Amino acid sequence: MNKIVKKAIIPAAGLGTRFLPATKALPKEMLPILDKPSIQFIVEEAVASGIEEILIVVSSNKNSIIDHFDYSFELEERLKQKKKMNEFKQIRKIADMVNIQFVRQKEPLGLGHAILCAQSFVGDEPFAVLLGDDIVMNEGGEPAVKQCIDAFNKTNSTVLGVQKVSDDVVHKYGVIDIDAKLQSDKSIFKIKGAVEKPSKEEAPSNYAILGRYILKPTIFAELKKTKVDIRGEIELTNAIMALIKHESVYAKEFIGRRYDIGSKSDYAISIIDEALKNPETKEEVSKYIIKVSKELGKK
Ligand code: UTP
Repeated sequence: MNKIVKKAIIPAAGLGTRFLPATKALPKEMLPILDKPSIQFIVEEAVASGIEEILIVVSSNKNSIIDHFDYSFELEERLKQKKKMNEFKQIRKIADMVNIQFVRQKEPLGLGHAILCAQSFVGDEPFAVLLGDDIVMNEGGEPAVKQCIDAFNKTNSTVLGVQKVSDDVVHKYGVIDIDAKLQSDKSIFKIKGAVEKPSKEEAPSNYAILGRYILKPTIFAELKKTKVDIRGEIELTNAIMALIKHESVYAKEFIGRRYDIGSKSDYAISIIDEALKNPETKEEVSKYIIKVSKELGKK
């Protein structure tokens, strides 16, 4: 019988160089999408997908992530004194949502290395990995990682969450080489390989690996054998490539609007989209967008 996916790892120990100077003192994962830090969206997605235990991999300057998921005694007391009970409940809920643990990655030696730091947390169970850079909104539908867990339950194999991207951006991602689509579910593909950041000429497909993985503990042996790349990092994609030689690996084309919040333009768009959904900001922001669109149309 398949083991159930109950644990998730959120690697959040990267340097966030693309968002400097904001990330000099503030972790990239704490950058808010309107009023909520991006890492909270990720934790909520995991919880809505049935994950019961989360390990966040942090580095030494990321204590605000730990504080965000802890009780905040002073703030809570003040909110109670001021009878701001909705705000009190809202911030209590963040800390009570799920069992979250933290581990330190002492050096930023790459995503693969960050996952290696989680080996004792994982034990002998399959687990999900959610990257904080990739926020996926799927209102009214299944969260992205839940869709990947369902694909894992069908295949009992490693699953990589993918979506189609255009030719001009394939060079930013790990891109899969498709073997065959699953007969019973055309959104699940057996894969024969993956290439990290290929040129558009070299890309084996347009399906990019987008920050959602269901892995088995067998990945750890491969990660330990994986050599550091030219950037001095242990790449998860390289370990998965090695795994494919002796285990089936599948990709799941998940449904949802995905924002690459490691990119400044997608980050800005994610805030606009949230502002258009939020009852507090919807009207004013809509009016502003209409005004700006008209002005842009005149140019
Ligand atoms: P990225 O390479 O996108 O994030 O890693 P980064 O290194 O923080 O960003 P830039 O490129 O310098 O702007 C993808 C994910 O893996 C985590 C990051 O926190 C991010 O969520 N990561 C990366 C680690 O946890 N440890 C690492 O050593 C590297």
